[in-house]
Amino acid sequence: MEGFNHSSCEALEFKLVIHKGFNLISGIHSPEVVDQIHNFEIRDSDVFVITYPKSGTVWLQQILRLIEVKGDVTATNDRLNSERIPWMELLESEKQFVSAPSPRIHVSHLPYRFMPLGLKQKKGKVIYVARNPKDVLVSYFHFHKFANMLETPKDFDTFFEKFLEGNVFGNCWFEHVKSWCCHSDEMNFLYITYEEMIKDLRPVVERIVSFLGMDLTPQQLNDVVEHSTFRNMKNNPQANYQQVPGLLLNHQLGAFLRKGTVGDWKNYFTVAHNERFDKVYQEKIKDIPLSFMWDMSDLVTP
Ligand code: A3P
Repeated sequence: MEGFNHSSCEALEFKLVIHKGFNLISGIHSPEVVDQIHNFEIRDSDVFVITYPKSGTVWLQQILRLIEVKGDVTATNDRLNSERIPWMELLESEKQFVSAPSPRIHVSHLPYRFMPLGLKQKKGKVIYVARNPKDVLVSYFHFHKFANMLETPKDFDTFFEKFLEGNVFGNCWFEHVKSWCCHSDEMNFLYITYEEMIKDLRPVVERIVSFLGMDLTPQQLNDVVEHSTFRNMKNNPQANYQQVPGLLLNHQLGAFLRKGTVGDWKNYFTVAHNERFDKVYQEKIKDIPLSFMWDMSDLVTP
């Protein structure tokens, strides 16, 4: 959540405001910009990374940035990943979007209905990153504790309910993933999961490279993978979001790169939470053929 004018939000109170059925954060997002996105003119070379919050957006920013420079991490030192690959929905982002040179690469948490109509004419490319929603919930719980623009949760129980109700930025996880996946045939669309990246990043990077129509040597692919590990990103100021002003993120209370694992939800969910979550999951997602890896043991190939 960087790349916007620090001073412009200094005096503002951050709170969730509903815009056309979707929660935006006042002081950060602009309803006017969100409304304009629909009519943004799309170039064939445009790339949009779409995620529900806490699904690995910063990870994709790092991977795409490195693919662009063919794995040469020194070539990424000139600016922050969040500046090279900015958010679509932030205040004043429309000026940047219109004037940016090709290839434009953006990230967004918006649901499908707000996105540029040109995508339906198979212009541009969409990479949707999904993560198992139990880990998303836990990661988001921690994020709310150190993100000053989001309300600090009273406790895990309260946040658990808020998440299931979709009463957070990003709204309902189930609706988000459905809204994009149900329209995937209309677009140039690549679906990847956080868990498969944890399992083995290299084949996922290869799929992304091929989807983008690029060509990297085996060594360049190795370099992309190497500089996208959790440990290396944690030490890389361009990639780890430590530069986001304290006004927005209280870095004493948490970090964007927190744990980076699969199955952390087991440390937070009670049996009752899990049963309730599974019930909602079955109800909401039954129409779409999605499956997730919920635990590190699911990542082991038999
Ligand atoms: P955790 O809080 O579970 O650690 P987003 O960028 O969409 O906000 O997602 C943040 C989540 O992605 C955090 O999850 C973060 O640790 C994880 N993440 C980011 N880069 C990662 C990497 N290189 N490897 C594993 N996880 C990563």
